[in-house]
Amino acid sequence: MSENDLIRIFDTTMRDGEQSPGCSMNLVEKLTLARQLERLGVDVIEAGFPIASDGDFESVCAVAAAVRESVICGLARTSSEDIERAARALESAANPRIHTFIATSDIHMEHKLRMSREQVLEQVDRAVRQARGYCDDVEFSAEDATRSDADFLVQVFTVASEAGATTLNVPDTVGYTLPEEFSELIRLLRDRVPGAEKLVFAVHCHNDLGLAVANSLAAVRAGARQVECTVNGIGERAGNTSMEEVVMAVKTRRDSFAGLDTRIRTAEIYPASRMLSSIIGVAVQPNKAIVGDNAFAHEAGIHQDGVLKAPITYEIMTPQSIGRPSNELVMGKHSGRHAFRERLLELGFDLEGEEFQLAFRRFKDLADKKKTIFNEDIEAIVADTTIDRDERFAVKEVSVLSGTFAEPTATVELVIDGEAKKGSALGVGPVDAVFKVVAELTETKSDLLRFHVTAITGGMDALGEVSVTVSEDGRRVIGHGADPDIIVASAKAYVHALNKLVWHKLRRGVSEPKGI
Ligand code: KIV
Ligand code: ZN
Repeated sequence: MSENDLIRIFDTTMRDGEQSPGCSMNLVEKLTLARQLERLGVDVIEAGFPIASDGDFESVCAVAAAVRESVICGLARTSSEDIERAARALESAANPRIHTFIATSDIHMEHKLRMSREQVLEQVDRAVRQARGYCDDVEFSAEDATRSDADFLVQVFTVASEAGATTLNVPDTVGYTLPEEFSELIRLLRDRVPGAEKLVFAVHCHNDLGLAVANSLAAVRAGARQVECTVNGIGERAGNTSMEEVVMAVKTRRDSFAGLDTRIRTAEIYPASRMLSSIIGVAVQPNKAIVGDNAFAHEAGIHQDGVLKAPITYEIMTPQSIGRPSNELVMGKHSGRHAFRERLLELGFDLEGEEFQLAFRRFKDLADKKKTIFNEDIEAIVADTTIDRDERFAVKEVSVLSGTFAEPTATVELVIDGEAKKGSALGVGPVDAVFKVVAELTETKSDLLRFHVTAITGGMDALGEVSVTVSEDGRRVIGHGADPDIIVASAKAYVHALNKLVWHKLRRGVSEPKGI
């Protein structure tokens, strides 16, 4: 494939994706995801916004040190502090990129930046030159490009390119554009920005009108060669372009995207999707294209009959092509270490040493209680066992008394900073009682915003998964826990959320809350 036929996949799950409510990830989670993105073959990983907080800075540093194949990118506004901080965070990257941006629409310049066009042009020139002083790979984005004056946009991109930017990004920041309009804009920019043939034009679409993927594909037809996207389409408001949808559209409709391709190893798509869902505790909708539970389920009799005779009748791609493991190979109490490790790898988890042993022990314990272990059960075990050495709190024992004759009472033992602590409390229900003890023992004062319990797989012996949304000082986090006993799962979920709050507090940085 020639450079011109390559559609570069720029993944911003850890930056724009993380900006969606409840999708924040800690350092260990970001590293785990970054390794999966590298296995997936994404060209660029936008690892964070280093000036936003110390946590973001550390995450970009860690991802930059761990990932060797993909380009690692850090976001920066045009201020020199932002760019310097991004450059410092990327110091150990094998392939660093600084991504700097400023808004170019009259609406943003007047109401948000309070800057004239001339001032914005000066900022672009200065910021890109400064970034080029640190690395050769510099991307410039004109925020709100689709609502910007086209002549001004040409001027902005010309300045950015003359200052040394190698990738010019055209964001549809508010998800406003339409496919034909967007492809015209890309054509216009490629015609009018001097030296366009040596530059990579990128697009970054938001999904406010449900058009992010359509707009990105229209831009590719018009010559854009980098698509910015996220796993499962997470991101600000209605989300970003969904990586799996763009990649599979190009692959499945090769006839229509003649000669073009991505470097994505599509068999890693499903593991990446599941991994992200289990990290952030947000499942994709069942009918989500490519990775939703129903994406390959055939319910109607006529469809089932057709698929059994020849899958091509109703399947335009195979589940295997995106790495969906079959649930047919059932795991149970007779499955050994080897089978368990294989299934973990299929699901995108490469656990080693202590973590693997712990997960295997939990798998065996569950298999003693539950006849069939499904992939979802294994994902829950992994989410529950991945060791975060920074975690202050862990659940040791939980016991409750409740029902129609008893006043709900809970006794909980936690390990706090390595020391066991026990307490009891009454509550309006068993979960309330457990949460009261946990709050008392951890000396935390957070608000519980949402409590959600689901059976991970069918059957009376299903594993229960609890997700809680908790907030403290305006910071919202989601915690999850799984256990055959939903009260224990609730305690684990609550403690998981409190650990996330501690993590954010420890790394609270220069300009909270983060995001742009
Ligand atoms: O949506 C947007 O405009 C952005 C830019 C920083 C690229 O996220
Ligand atoms: Zn965005």
